[in-house]
Amino acid sequence: MGNILHIISSARGEASNSILLGNRIVERLQRRYPDKKVVVNDVTGQSWQWLHNELVDAYRTPLAALTTEQQVLLETSDATVTQMQEADVIVIGVPLYNFNLPAPLKAWVDHIVRPGKTVNYQDGGFAGQLTGKKVYLAIASNGIYSEGPMQPFDFAEPYLRYVLGFVGITDITTYRIEGAGMSATRETAVEKGLASVESI
Ligand SMILES: Cc1cc2nc3c(=O)[nH]c(=O)nc-3n(C[C@H](O)[C@H](O)[C@H](O)COP(=O)(O)O)c2cc1C
Repeated sequence: MGNILHIISSARGEASNSILLGNRIVERLQRRYPDKKVVVNDVTGQSWQWLHNELVDAYRTPLAALTTEQQVLLETSDATVTQMQEADVIVIGVPLYNFNLPAPLKAWVDHIVRPGKTVNYQDGGFAGQLTGKKVYLAIASNGIYSEGPMQPFDFAEPYLRYVLGFVGITDITTYRIEGAGMSATRETAVEKGLASVESI
């Protein structure tokens, strides 16, 4: 039985709507799967390496040929991938920043996309290896992106759907607390977002 993995990428703690929504989704999942362990990874609290040359070289080196230095370089990525492999339900909190992911969440993505480990290239195509998992996205934004004129400008959700599909995860459901910064929806945004996950 796999874990429930909750990825947090807002540094706003108790003021964060993506954490609030993600926690509510986790609560709903715990009711449904009381025996599952919940693992939390706050990606804002880590000093992620960028994809510098040595790290990319290590990603591309066959596992059996890795040097000791490369194995050390890969420790964070390996642990992050293991956390994904050990989860069968993953809740990803996403504060929308400048129409996209916050940098620590992009860094997390860059540590789970691993050729030969989470995605295999074959016959000119690719085969994601993190199959059989369910992802819930908990997206928080001041504007409204689920419908209306701003809909095309949430680049976080389509990006996450594509890149998670690349590593084999295609069962993805999105929930939102949105419109929290707009006068017409400010008062109801949180309540509406939390109510939307009641059906889980
Ligand atoms: C640097 C920055 C950029 C932001 N960019 C956007 C944006 O592009 N669109 C939007 O609707 N809200 C934007 N916001 C508002 C956040 O999405 C909103 O505060 C959200 O609740 C953040 O998630 P959190 O509450 O989990 O921290 C931005 C906020 C900050 C601080």
